[in-house]
Amino acid sequence: MSTANRFAENLRHWPTEGLSFGGDYNPEQWPDDIVAQDMELMREAGVNLVTLGVFSWITYEPREGCFDFSWLDGMLDLLAGNAIRVDLATPTAAVPMWLHRLHPEILPQDEFGHPLAPGGRMGWCPSSPVFREYSLRIVERLAAHVAGHPAVRMWHVSNEFGGGNARCHCPVSADAFRRWVQDRYTTIDAVNEAWGLAFWGNTYSSFEEIVTPGGRTAHNPGHLLDYERFSSDALLEQYRAEKRVLRRHTPDLPVTTNFMVGLGPDVVDYTRWSDEMDIVANDHYTFGPDPFRHQELAFSADRMRGMSNGGPWMLMEHATGAASWHPINQAKKPGELFRHAITHVARGSNSVMFFQWRASRSGTEQFHSAMVPHAGPRSHVFGEIRTLGQHLRQLAETAATGVVGARVAFLHDNEAGWALKSGLKPINDPSYADTARAIHRKLFDRAVTVDVLPPWADFTGYDLVVVPGLFLISDEDAQAVADYAHRGGTVLITWFSGIVDPVNTVRIGGYPGAFRDLIGAWSDEFFPLAAGEQLTLDNGWTAHRWSERMQVIDADVVARYASGDTAGLPAITRRTIRAEAGLPQDAAPAGEGTVWYLSADLDDPSLDALIDRLLADARVEPAASVTAGIDAVRRAGSRSSYLFLINNATTEGSARTSGVDLLTGTRHDGEVRLAAGAVAVIREDRD
Ligand code: GLA
Repeated sequence: MSTANRFAENLRHWPTEGLSFGGDYNPEQWPDDIVAQDMELMREAGVNLVTLGVFSWITYEPREGCFDFSWLDGMLDLLAGNAIRVDLATPTAAVPMWLHRLHPEILPQDEFGHPLAPGGRMGWCPSSPVFREYSLRIVERLAAHVAGHPAVRMWHVSNEFGGGNARCHCPVSADAFRRWVQDRYTTIDAVNEAWGLAFWGNTYSSFEEIVTPGGRTAHNPGHLLDYERFSSDALLEQYRAEKRVLRRHTPDLPVTTNFMVGLGPDVVDYTRWSDEMDIVANDHYTFGPDPFRHQELAFSADRMRGMSNGGPWMLMEHATGAASWHPINQAKKPGELFRHAITHVARGSNSVMFFQWRASRSGTEQFHSAMVPHAGPRSHVFGEIRTLGQHLRQLAETAATGVVGARVAFLHDNEAGWALKSGLKPINDPSYADTARAIHRKLFDRAVTVDVLPPWADFTGYDLVVVPGLFLISDEDAQAVADYAHRGGTVLITWFSGIVDPVNTVRIGGYPGAFRDLIGAWSDEFFPLAAGEQLTLDNGWTAHRWSERMQVIDADVVARYASGDTAGLPAITRRTIRAEAGLPQDAAPAGEGTVWYLSADLDDPSLDALIDRLLADARVEPAASVTAGIDAVRRAGSRSSYLFLINNATTEGSARTSGVDLLTGTRHDGEVRLAAGAVAVIREDRD
């Protein structure tokens, strides 16, 4: 779907007016008087959407084949009566205990063949026909029952697919995997060839010999990568099956499921799932000890916007304060609740939703933060929620706008991350997202808006394409990067990109195989560094972790290694490509193409210096002129533009723009001053 269409479609489907505000609502836990108080408090806070019924299968079907929706009917009527709309979940995340008793074989098995214990959630094998049958039956009954109810505005299929059952090794999954491999490769010889099974003499003579890669042995990289793909596909089949049922009964309601998009790679391949979503939705939780958690949040939000083709996406869950699954669960710092919520909105979310509305007294997540904490409405957090609700209403007019001004495309692919962790590597604690995150942070610090896109997206109109540690790439996608550069674009390719093809086979003839010609240089050996080791470059920059023995064919050397085993050899290169006659120029940036290759993992200040040069090369400007620590993103529509300013610094800062702050009504002429931690959303003057 085109960007414009996706935008209009998302808005058409949107479950509320303006921005959606609310969270997961699990009233099964509470007596009537608390539920009655919930309605009052939701109205007070301005909640307009709740996610209901995520774990309610046992409530709807207390015994096998006995259905009772009276509790749900009461809740839907109550919520409708309070003008609160419902994002209704299919309850397939929480298998009733009677089903575990009747069919213990539906439990997923770990890599050693041990079943998950019953209880908890996601206790089902994604390929189980038994689970499929029971789950579709409850979905069918539920959808038929609620069809036409005015409160129900959206479907939330199951919950966080893959959260606990992403990789199943039970006999049913093993069979399904064999069928998946057969569908993909047709013949066993093709599998042997693709996975390179001649090595270690692992050649198969029939599909029956293929197992899921578990247990205690080293597995083949192609096998491992395909198992990741299969596992994602198996879960997607469950989503699709549920969605088909929902469509039959409620053809007009949007259907989604809540992703868990962070830095990647993710448990399932969300980018390849995103076309199946009427609105893409994310659950995002920050990690308290991470000093740059607001930037990690921004990276994930930039990924979400890429998955919704620039259209509005939904922040389905985040936390008002602490989670409870980390060793130490830190509360949010003062003002962080608001800053985090607005950072998501600034980057294209049209909702601010939390897990969960009211903190549980008991149950697994009894210490997870909530909109109404254990202390109740007199708590500090509920005060912040009330203020947040008020502010979101003041921002309602931004809901019809989208993020504008991204001149940088960041190529990100889950399969590249999976390939990197599938099999042994020069560095065996590889983190696919490290390089991407480091570069994204430099752009974030400079208020440069970034679209995180899959390599197969159309990135021709951007001024700069970053290829950060993209270990796997297909020939076609690598060609698209080359075409972009040949049309005059600027590209940065970093170490360990383009190394393998889609079956996780090394591209031979010199690294980085897929980009060797494009960068005009190649390496014949990697020189990873010992922990704590540092290299210097001849321009004074420093690097750690990685170096390569490079030869230049057709590129300028920006910096050479000045120490270590590669001393004297190129570390950073820059190739200039003259724009070629005959190639379409219209959508392309003007001028000569430039391809940078970074073979080292630069230390922070050196990366700063590189990024400054790169941005100057590509003529990329920030969203606004801001002082250090201020995040600036612009959303705009046909009539208005809004500059979102979030001061993540501990000192006062400022931004250059003129207009009215929607949050305070204050007019600013030329400059907006922001106190430490403050947020402003400026409806900008249009000339
Ligand atoms: C996830 C789940 C929720 C809840 C939260 C908080 O996002 O979807 O049900 O468990 O985490 O832990």
